[in-house]
Amino acid sequence: MKLLMVCLGNICRSPLAEGIMQEKLKKAGLDFFVDSAGMISYHAGECPDHRSIEIAKQFGIDISGQVARKFTKNDFENFDLIFAMDTSVYEELISIASSEKQKAKIHRFLDFADWESSEVPDPYYGSKKDFEEVYHLINDASEKITKKFLSKIK
Ligand code: 4NP
Repeated sequence: MKLLMVCLGNICRSPLAEGIMQEKLKKAGLDFFVDSAGMISYHAGECPDHRSIEIAKQFGIDISGQVARKFTKNDFENFDLIFAMDTSVYEELISIASSEKQKAKIHRFLDFADWESSEVPDPYYGSKKDFEEVYHLINDASEKITKKFLSKIK
């Protein structure tokens, strides 16, 4: 199974989602491939935002080697599930998908986790506390999604 995490810049939220999901799936013994991308190319080629690197490091996850890239239409074919970090990203992905099969792969990350909200807030212009909150939100939702995958294969 191949999963793609998508946010706007691919430097704050989706790199955390990539690193956290990789860790949880591996610990669960699930051999998944996880990648991330952004809707804009502005930060392409950059490593994650230092605040995302720092909070992940505090929890033992190293995301410093990730490199930002822009989402491409090939991703609709190369991945099985595409997780949008918020509704604006979700709607843009739906608008550029070219078939019902492609649209069916796109989900809001938190909806897939049956979370009470659908939005992973963009912390880019926020504080360290905003990054901490985003980390915990993505971590808790990733835990639920990993359990969901495990329950499906049993
Ligand atoms: P991300 O955060 O989508 O979580 O990576 C952002 C990073 C950069 C920008 C916006 C959001 N930006 O406008 O440059």
